[in-house]
Amino acid sequence: MSVGIYFATTTGKTEDIAERLHGMLSGADAPKDLADISDVSEFTSLDGIICGIPTWNTGADSERSGTAWDSMLEDIGALNLSGKKVAIFGLGDSSTYTENFCDAMEELHSYFKKAGATMVGYVSKDNYTFEESKSCIGNSFCGLPLDEDSESDMTDERLSNWSSQLKNEIGGL
Ligand SMILES: Cc1cc2nc3c(=O)[nH]c(=O)nc-3n(C[C@H](O)[C@H](O)[C@H](O)COP(=O)(O)O)c2cc1C
Repeated sequence: MSVGIYFATTTGKTEDIAERLHGMLSGADAPKDLADISDVSEFTSLDGIICGIPTWNTGADSERSGTAWDSMLEDIGALNLSGKKVAIFGLGDSSTYTENFCDAMEELHSYFKKAGATMVGYVSKDNYTFEESKSCIGNSFCGLPLDEDSESDMTDERLSNWSSQLKNEIGGL
């Protein structure tokens, strides 16, 4: 069982969360910065992929992350990732950007789905305060939203719950 953690970041918060998550998941490889990856085909060698993405392009229909993920999306969608488990966590600000909270997770989610991956790590939106997010599917987010700007006091618990969830849903962690 081989599980990778990949992140992209502008101000370092998504990297910090990737490191903290790695500390909770003993079976996952050390986090890799997507900016250092030239070819996403390395995803095909993994059983599980955990991806961290911030939202910077407020209100955009595409390229919402403003990071290296944006230029990799088409390549990800063209891979064959059937049988792979993929989980996404997103960094955003539910207070200042309450109408676009963690929107970028949805874009990544749709391209991994297009590649045939099995998407896991969905989280109920019940314990979040925000107006709108493109990353909601029914009553859930398509991954784990985290808010280090306005709700950093909730991050430890959210990460701990999610790491337990991934141990069940991905396995080998
Ligand atoms: C100019 C700007 C635009 C942002 N747009 C959004 C947004 O649309 N939605 C959101 O949830 N957060 C938004 N944020 C908050 C960032 O996503 C948040 O600070 C995040 O933790 C940054 O992660 P990073 O340090 O890994 O880049 C924005 C922040 C700035 C400064």
